[in-house]
Amino acid sequence: MPKLYRAIAEYYDHENEHHAVLRQDVPFFLGQMPSRPRRQAVLELAVGTGRAAIPIAQAGHRVVGVDYAADMLEIAQRKRDAVGLGDAELSLARGDLLRPRYDLGARFDWVCVFFNSFLGFPTLEQQDRVLGFARRHLKPRGRFWVDVFQPDPSVLARPVSRGMEPTLFHVPRFGRSVLKTTDIRQSPESQVQRVTFHYTWLDEHGVTRRERTEFDGTYIFPRELRILLERNGLTVEHLWGNYDGSPLGANSPRMIARCCRA
Ligand SMILES: C[S@@+](CC[C@H](N)C(=O)[O-])C[C@H]1O[C@@H](n2cnc3c(N)ncnc32)[C@H](O)[C@@H]1O
Repeated sequence: MPKLYRAIAEYYDHENEHHAVLRQDVPFFLGQMPSRPRRQAVLELAVGTGRAAIPIAQAGHRVVGVDYAADMLEIAQRKRDAVGLGDAELSLARGDLLRPRYDLGARFDWVCVFFNSFLGFPTLEQQDRVLGFARRHLKPRGRFWVDVFQPDPSVLARPVSRGMEPTLFHVPRFGRSVLKTTDIRQSPESQVQRVTFHYTWLDEHGVTRRERTEFDGTYIFPRELRILLERNGLTVEHLWGNYDGSPLGANSPRMIARCCRA
């Protein structure tokens, strides 16, 4: 069984703070929304700490976010309350997207999944479940938005990559500065990557402490993305390669798809 992604909730926002993708993904998404109707119903899958959902709600949309991690949702709620938004603007639901026939009982103008979260579902069966959930929650003229990285062949060619993307971040709640590095182990036969985040910090006695999280992710290629979407009743209307609005090309870092119901 693949190991699903679980963040260390108190680290999540801080470890990702300087990630360039996260400064651009929500503004780009908001820029693609039609100006009418001004207020759209948006469902974010795997909402986490509300990093994306909160600014979307602040832009005037009515947002529902789903996640299975109670500790991530607690942070989302704390942040939502701190900016003066309520349940009517951003409602947070605890639920597992992989639960068969899971239905929130509402339909949305947009269903979206940001920041590679879709790649945290590494098997075809899981991907179909998540896309089925997304489609089921779309209004007839609704749109699905998925944003994942385009695989880098040089990373895929190495069976193991260690110490990637060293990042130093501060966690005010714990008063600690943490160094994060990432290891990736490839299983090309299943197209699964075992991702390990290593965290290291010094405690108040100067002793080195370590913690890690591990999960299985996948990568998907452009044609595979289209096929996956199509087999789940979603048609790609537009496929961008980056947040500057450029079309997907060989060296594009992202695959950002806007889809309608087939
Ligand atoms: C990379 S975070 C993304 C959070 C947020 N969307 C963002 O863009 O910052 C992925 C999220 O997926 C959630 N997740 C993973 N598997 C899930 C599942 N089966 N059902 C619901 N949420 C899940 C995790 O708890 C985590 O909060």
